[in-house]
Amino acid sequence: MPYNPDLDRLRTEYAARDARLADSDRYSPFNRANLFLQQGRQRLMLDLLQRRGFAPLAGQRILEVGCGAGGVLSEFLWAGATPTLLHGVELLPERLHKARQQSPHLPLTCADGQRLPYPDQTFDLVMQFTVFSSILDDGIKANLAAEMRRVLQPRGLILWYDFWLNPTNPQTRGIRPAEVRRLFPGCRAEFHRLTLAPPLARRIVPFSWILAALFEKLVVFNTHYLAVLQPGQDACGTLEQIIRLMLY
Ligand SMILES: C[S@@+](CC[C@H](N)C(=O)[O-])C[C@H]1O[C@@H](n2cnc3c(N)ncnc32)[C@H](O)[C@@H]1O
Repeated sequence: MPYNPDLDRLRTEYAARDARLADSDRYSPFNRANLFLQQGRQRLMLDLLQRRGFAPLAGQRILEVGCGAGGVLSEFLWAGATPTLLHGVELLPERLHKARQQSPHLPLTCADGQRLPYPDQTFDLVMQFTVFSSILDDGIKANLAAEMRRVLQPRGLILWYDFWLNPTNPQTRGIRPAEVRRLFPGCRAEFHRLTLAPPLARRIVPFSWILAALFEKLVVFNTHYLAVLQPGQDACGTLEQIIRLMLY
């Protein structure tokens, strides 16, 4: 894989970010706004997995690409995933070290997701949580998506959670459904817009959990998409093909 400066930018950015947030409780479950956002995502995620026939999680081969310090993997353990089948890949050794400290029994690997160290079609479920938005280089995003697709079983599921809007952080770039569809051609996709804008949630939740829930229901202030993608032709993809055939 040729050298790409975006990976170095990412390393520097995460080192600075970890130092900045070292004493912060922003991502602690004792932070009520964080708990609100996390639980909203978990409810919808579990619901989607169940509807797609991926519950219970026990016995399923699962991979998180860009697992960071292992927060999402812990949620999957809590939801019943089998520890020996719950894999994580992370680019940055310091972050993976934290994940290993937290979950020493999980198969975790330090690697670039552009070259996943697994044979084709290894996993039932492959997921990414806020990894793609942290990458600015289109080529890396395309390579990551292709690798996620390669290691997925033909009847498997890709779980996607990322934001489409974050105007305050120039080190990230939001991703909308059209781009996700382009990254995973030939997949059927279902998108749900959720997660009340975190700056709003941090103001409203300490004052009223119910008010925050009402704001989230309005959807207009929600900054993320939770999506599930499965190999097979997308209705939008089919429509696109018909239009192309008519135009050419
Ligand atoms: C915003 S963090 C999210 C961590 C975790 N998914 C979570 O939600 O808690 C994004 C993570 O993706 C990792 N990452 C970015 N590019 C990667 C790549 N090419 N291969 C593996 N990991 C990568 C970063 O190092 C970082 O830890």
